[in-house]
Amino acid sequence: MSLPPGFIDELRARLSLGQVVGRKVMWDSRKTNQGKGDFWAQCPFHQEKSSSFHVDDRKGFYYCFGCHSKGDAITFVRETENVGFMEAVQILAAEAGMTMPARDPKAQEKADKRTMLADVMEQAVQWHRLQLQTAAAGEARDYLVQRGLSSEALARWDIGFAPSGGGIMAHLKGKGVDPQLVIDAGLAAESDRGGAPYDRFRGRIIFPIRDARGRAIGLGGRAMAADARAKYLNSPETPLFDKGRSLYNHGPAREAAGKGQSLIVAEGYMDVIALSEAGFGASVAPLGTAITEDQLRLLWRIAPEPIIALDGDTAGLRAAMRVIDIALPLLEAGQSLRFALMPDGMDPDDLIKAKGPAGMQNLLDAAIPMVQLLWQRETAGKTFDSPERKAALDKALREKIKLIVDPSIRTHYASAIKEMRWALFNPRQNASNSGGQRRPWVRGQSAWDAARSPSATNKQSALGAGTADEDRLREAVILAALLSTPEVVFEFEVALERMVCEHPAHMQIKDLILQFAQDEDPYRAISVAWGADPLETLTQHSHVAISPAVRRAGDAEIARMCVNEELAKLNARRNFPRELADALEDITGTVDEGLTWRLSQAAQSLNGPSTAEAGAVTEFDTAENGAKLNKDERSAFDEVLRQITLTKKSP
Ligand code: UTP
Ligand code: MN
Repeated sequence: MSLPPGFIDELRARLSLGQVVGRKVMWDSRKTNQGKGDFWAQCPFHQEKSSSFHVDDRKGFYYCFGCHSKGDAITFVRETENVGFMEAVQILAAEAGMTMPARDPKAQEKADKRTMLADVMEQAVQWHRLQLQTAAAGEARDYLVQRGLSSEALARWDIGFAPSGGGIMAHLKGKGVDPQLVIDAGLAAESDRGGAPYDRFRGRIIFPIRDARGRAIGLGGRAMAADARAKYLNSPETPLFDKGRSLYNHGPAREAAGKGQSLIVAEGYMDVIALSEAGFGASVAPLGTAITEDQLRLLWRIAPEPIIALDGDTAGLRAAMRVIDIALPLLEAGQSLRFALMPDGMDPDDLIKAKGPAGMQNLLDAAIPMVQLLWQRETAGKTFDSPERKAALDKALREKIKLIVDPSIRTHYASAIKEMRWALFNPRQNASNSGGQRRPWVRGQSAWDAARSPSATNKQSALGAGTADEDRLREAVILAALLSTPEVVFEFEVALERMVCEHPAHMQIKDLILQFAQDEDPYRAISVAWGADPLETLTQHSHVAISPAVRRAGDAEIARMCVNEELAKLNARRNFPRELADALEDITGTVDEGLTWRLSQAAQSLNGPSTAEAGAVTEFDTAENGAKLNKDERSAFDEVLRQITLTKKSP
């Protein structure tokens, strides 16, 4: 049905949003100013103690400063009554005393045809139900019993049987139904060879499919033999049956969800039936096709965060990934998904049989947010032990996040990924910081176990003995510079991740910087997490306090230069002993050309920061202030050189 132009405007003008909303909330009398059309209440869309929900009666809009839900009277009715747009308009029109417009004749004709088809379908449902009671259906009844369906359940779901010889066309013709309608309803098909139409469903158990209003729109027919050509045969697309826009068990699920049950999306009819019978009434399934965009929209009209409960096999996993790709561009506030993965090749039906409703509930409680599954897809079974691999991961995730249209959701996804990235690349902190948060759901779930949990090899160079104090000072300068100008942090991410701090407090501050650099107010976030002002800790040494990067906070150029410089010096001194050790090992073994190169590298790191990681050329005098060798290091180095000369001389 289409509405005439101006109808909605007229409706909005006639309604008082304050009145519409007022039926669902208690106004906060202290904040509300009725005279100005300014209403405040506790938000009906999220739990809160304060009154963040605001209604501007004059503009006819509401907005919640807590959960950001917003809209007009129609949105409000849709959200609170769990109904579609037209239904909301109908409800409000009745309230405003407006008559809904009559349909245009073409639409009326279409609607009439659909009504006739639905009527034919309903007759078919009832006929198939009766067939299940006949002698010919003995095998079917046995099968259903063996599947654990009680006679009450069979009745509740209108489950029927199509005899192997068919019979629906004959039955409906006998009732005076036009054969063309039977064909149009998808119950029979014209044969290719121009003969009489044949019944589509034969020798199958029949699952009726109903639309949200309860009208029969299609049938699913399950073969009983394991080796049947097709396990399920479904009605074709008809004027009544649009598979991509329908959901199995839509109506009852919507009602149950309205009563507070979690909306669950399973793969199959039998799953929905098993779930509902086990008390999870808000369960739906797509109709033999992958979940579509339209179906996601339908789901979100029912509940803000449906749980996708897919089979615990690779197909289920693939389906979940497909759903992510469809869902990403559609995400909005209060419009997301969770995923519950069934274990060991089970589907919800199997799981309920094996573990009961409580087992199912456990899995639903452990359902993971979409962002986590997205992360899992990109990281499962991979190792990120090189900057290149980390960069590839970042790129892949960035591409995905780019698909999110809603800017606020996009930001939240980016920071959630940031956190997971941080946890992955800083394994030392995981145990203490993220506790049970870290992918508890991976355990014991076959499809996921196959993809081994990712690990970041955090190779740390052996620390050189000696000027530890000097190192600490450098660490403090680096961290203070980054805290003073957090916008350069991302340029140093890889270096920071590798940086080993001599001082334990520095290590912690460094991790916090990595974790919160992308926060809106990084300094504040870090201070809160750290429990103190980190700069205060770092600038205890006057050398840090007077460093240019601290004095000129916010100057990215200076910060960059300073961090580069100090990182290079730290690395130079620390890398030397490791390279020396490697070189010595080579000498005691075989000597090859690589050795000379290796030694020249070791010598270079002594002479100052010119490694790739040091990056930009600094204007500071690196030779003068660069890493100094202590006496032991110097003599070890000399020893290496001496041995090389010896080896080279004696063939
Ligand atoms: P499943 O094979 O998981 O079916 O396919 P199921 O519902 O769990 O059924 P049982 O437990 O094996 O009896 C999931 C859904 O995919 C569609 C059906 O909608 C089915 O419910 N399907 C499957 C088909 O349309 N055709 C097929 O041949 C198989
Ligand atoms: Mn199944």
